[in-house]
Amino acid sequence: MPATEPSVKLVAIDDTPQSLELIATALEQPGLKIFTTSDPEEGLDIVFEQHPQIVIVDLMMPKMGGIEVLERIVDFDPAIEVVLITAHYSSESAVEAIQKGASDYLNKPVPIAVLRSKIEKLAEDARRRQRALQIDSELAESTKFHGMVGRSPLMWDLYARIKRVARHYRSALITGPTGTGKELVAKALHELSPASSGRFVVCNCSALVETLFESELFGHVRGAFTGATQDKMGLFEFAHGGTLFLDEIGDMPLGTQSKLLRILQNQEVQRVGSLTSRVVDVRVVAATNRDLKQMIGDKTFRDDLYYRLAMVEFCTPGLAERKEDLPLLERHFIRKFAAEFQKDIAGLSHRAQILLARYAWPGNVRELENAIGNACMMAFGDTIDVQDLPESLRAPHAPDTPPELTLAAVAHGEMSLDGRERQSLIDALDRSGGNQSQAARLLRITRDRMRYKMAKYDLK
Ligand SMILES: Nc1ncnc2c1ncn2[C@@H]1O[C@H](COP(=O)(O)OP(=O)(O)OP(=O)(O)O)[C@@H](O)[C@H]1O
Ligand SMILES: [Mg+2]
Repeated sequence: MPATEPSVKLVAIDDTPQSLELIATALEQPGLKIFTTSDPEEGLDIVFEQHPQIVIVDLMMPKMGGIEVLERIVDFDPAIEVVLITAHYSSESAVEAIQKGASDYLNKPVPIAVLRSKIEKLAEDARRRQRALQIDSELAESTKFHGMVGRSPLMWDLYARIKRVARHYRSALITGPTGTGKELVAKALHELSPASSGRFVVCNCSALVETLFESELFGHVRGAFTGATQDKMGLFEFAHGGTLFLDEIGDMPLGTQSKLLRILQNQEVQRVGSLTSRVVDVRVVAATNRDLKQMIGDKTFRDDLYYRLAMVEFCTPGLAERKEDLPLLERHFIRKFAAEFQKDIAGLSHRAQILLARYAWPGNVRELENAIGNACMMAFGDTIDVQDLPESLRAPHAPDTPPELTLAAVAHGEMSLDGRERQSLIDALDRSGGNQSQAARLLRITRDRMRYKMAKYDLK
């Protein structure tokens, strides 16, 4: 392994010394620094001090349970991968652990091969991210890539592929769940392509009536059909020299699909009703959140068109797969909406952050954007708190919502702003065991501000 290979830190917390020994021996390898302790309190201190990428925690320990350790680590930094291990497997505790942010839940005795491969994968993800940061200084300096916010390994991979492919592609397909930024990927591809000085033309296939599809895309000549009173240019010609973005391609009628395929193959369009064709220089980017393979099976999407487009395919990850990007995205949207509503909003309270970190985000970044926009509108102080967030996020049965948050008086806005602020200081100090710098970090405020606030609320 080269000397510059980034090193990864792992902390193992287990009250059984044999188990720690096993972990340390099984995982020993260059580039992985392992800390072990049988005392959960000490384990947390090591975590706060060393800021490891991976933590292994035993579920049952006399001094402090694994779930509590997990919660405190997630509070400290949700990006840390926490693997829980237990000799007393129960599906309820497994579900609880995963809901509370554990990345895995393993049964003791953990087979060495399983442990190695799980940890190897987590370590590789961490290394990949560090390596990307080392190599791509341009990316490293900014938290954004062509309007896309996120620095998780999945997003790094996406940016790297866009950069590599953009200069050469003629057509591409972007797939991924709703609200994951497919349109942003299409724009990035355009901006980095040789056609960036040309137009970026959007055609939303789901908004077109079937009969108008071909005339819209390819244009028509006068008299081609009733109502065609003059020649009309189609979107393909309009996008000449640039990029045509075909959004929701799954909604394109089969007949139009075969014409599209022909254009992709010979770069020529024929206006409806015309006998001649014109050469167009257009890059085509299609996007969909539907399962095109399933549609091919149902004979509603042409397989030849699919394979042509999928030669260059990008998949945008769901937000739940990259929760480590939440703090960046939160900050990005708070800035955006604070400016839009001309409000002085500095950030989210600690509790609100936890609530967002534990939610499942079925609507992905769009849902987060809406939630924060809404909260910025509701917030009356400089901090967004739990009660400013949409009801759906804090409903008792919202996915992944911790019960204590919905039960807390804070969640129902029953305390004054000062009361809430004082309470969040007390909570943070509690969680950090009285360590002020640690508490300040949890609240994302400076130490000076922490001291000022503690004096203000008469806290020792
Ligand atoms: N990585 C990101 N960083 C910042 N904003 C993002 C990111 N991803 C998505 N968004 C924002 O989320 C919203 C939804 O994104 P977009 O319209 O590209 O989603 P989509 O994948 O096309 O979804 P759909 O399949 O529903 O059309 C937009 O306002 C977009 O700016
Ligand atoms: Mg879209």
